[in-house]
Amino acid sequence: MIIVFGNQKGGAGKSTLAILYANYLTLVKKQKCIVLDMDYQTSIFNRYEEDKILDNPELYEVLELNLEKFPETIPFLKEEKNLNIIIDLPGKLDDENLLPILQNADVFIIPFCYDKLTYQATTIFNLISQQINPDAKKFFVPNRIKGNVKYETLDSVNDDFKKNGIVTSVINDSVGFQRITTKELPINLLNIVEPVFETIINNIDRWED
Ligand SMILES: Nc1ncnc2c1ncn2[C@@H]1O[C@H](COP(=O)(O)OP(=O)(O)OP(=O)(O)O)[C@@H](O)[C@H]1O
Ligand SMILES: [Mg+2]
Repeated sequence: MIIVFGNQKGGAGKSTLAILYANYLTLVKKQKCIVLDMDYQTSIFNRYEEDKILDNPELYEVLELNLEKFPETIPFLKEEKNLNIIIDLPGKLDDENLLPILQNADVFIIPFCYDKLTYQATTIFNLISQQINPDAKKFFVPNRIKGNVKYETLDSVNDDFKKNGIVTSVINDSVGFQRITTKELPINLLNIVEPVFETIINNIDRWED
């Protein structure tokens, strides 16, 4: 299964949530994962390389993969049964090599926030992915939500995204997210991401049956 973390809004939380989702699937769900870091910034791949000094065992492999290499790489990865192929996309959509990735996605996980700029950017990603691949399952994940802020647009944004997928419960803003590794899932972060990831996993299962 190909699970794409996308949104052309930079800093929405694609890379962070991709790592945590892979950690959750391997540690909690005992599922197999591979992470394809397809962002030019290679932030996940860099993290993975740095994490090699940690004693904890490696949970999954992270491949640094150029967008144009996707079509030749994916058939090999798809040969392995029950492998979650988790893809971190760059924060922009102006590359034609993104097309086969969007077309092949089974699931889109789209982190966003309720501010106007992020909403607009998320809308563009939503419309483009919907047009290219209307069959993929979409999850919109409100991320970096601050408990003391009232988001005026919350209901209207949620109603809009619900037309094309599921809006999950929120992920709060917490400094713990800035210290994540590819090897562990600290209990405080586990508690925050678990309801969101369970919603995603349960809905993927239901939809596959
Ligand atoms: N829930 C959160 N609480 C606090 N900080 C967060 C949270 N989620 C992400 N961050 C931080 O926000 C910053 C941007 O996150 P991240 O790099 O995952 O975004 P991105 O969508 O991958 O960005 P880019 O488009 O640049 O690749 C990082 O410093 C990350 O640690
Ligand atoms: Mg990123």
